Amino acid sequence: MNKSQGSTNTFITEPKCRICGDIGIIDIGNNTYTDCDCAKQRKKQDRVDKLFKSARIPKRYQDKTLDNFDQSWQQKAYDYAVDYIKNWEENSDNGHSIFFVGDVGTGKSHLAYAILNKLIEKGVPGMAASVPDLLDDLRGKEDNGAIEALKEIDLLVLDDLGSQKNTEWVTERLFIILNSRYADLKPTIITSNHRLELLEKTEGWPRIVDRIIEMSRLVKVEGRSYRQRSGRFNG
Ligand SMILES: Nc1ncnc2c1ncn2[C@@H]1O[C@H](COP(=O)(O)OP(=O)(O)OP(=O)(O)O)[C@@H](O)[C@H]1O
Ligand SMILES: [Mg+2]
Ligand SMILES: [Zn+2]
Repeated sequence: MNKSQGSTNTFITEPKCRICGDIGIIDIGNNTYTDCDCAKQRKKQDRVDKLFKSARIPKRYQDKTLDNFDQSWQQKAYDYAVDYIKNWEENSDNGHSIFFVGDVGTGKSHLAYAILNKLIEKGVPGMAASVPDLLDDLRGKEDNGAIEALKEIDLLVLDDLGSQKNTEWVTERLFIILNSRYADLKPTIITSNHRLELLEKTEGWPRIVDRIIEMSRLVKVEGRSYRQRSGRFNG
């Protein structure tokens, strides 16, 4: 039995940090104190925890990573996601965005959230929104706080663009968000089942599509649905 299990009547536990004895600061002489590495690490982790709490990542995608993505399924898109994370500083400085486009179930959302999860873990403020849900949420709200947050956040995932109902109000909201991010060089990762050529033909969309084309790299994620890979429905 060790001390921490209290074999004696003194309940003294070993400090987790031998450098500061869990006080969090260290005396570096001359009446000067500095944060211990353990305290710095704790602060960093607290910040990341807060970032995840406000990121609004749907439960299903909270544990999606590039490590649990089957590379053999969408090699090129996977490689692009890896590079995107590696080159984050440059991507962030230049507003480099991604437009993942392809059929249902091919892994677009998985890749988008995997990038977001990884970058938040590195301390980047990020947020996710499913476009149809987002527009439902915004409808009827006078308060522009939600839109401001989507404009300002360092990295935004817009999942399922093009699957929302199209009204003038909808396209205007999307334009406001995307145009602001475009103008401020803020990266956005978009997933969609709809090719840009088709979206562009929809009323109100040419101005949105034009900006997406300029700011994004188009990454095709085509082929069979990973959801049906076991072939249970293939006869
Ligand atoms: N290559 C992969 N490796 C591991 N899991 C994958 C892969 N591709 C897809 N999946 C899983 O399959 C499910 C569907 O993928 P995802 O949600 O990313 O599809 P999608 O392309 O966004 O589809 P939709 O167009 O319908 O939104 C998810 O649970 C996802 O984690
Ligand atoms: Mg999806
Ligand atoms: Zn310490």
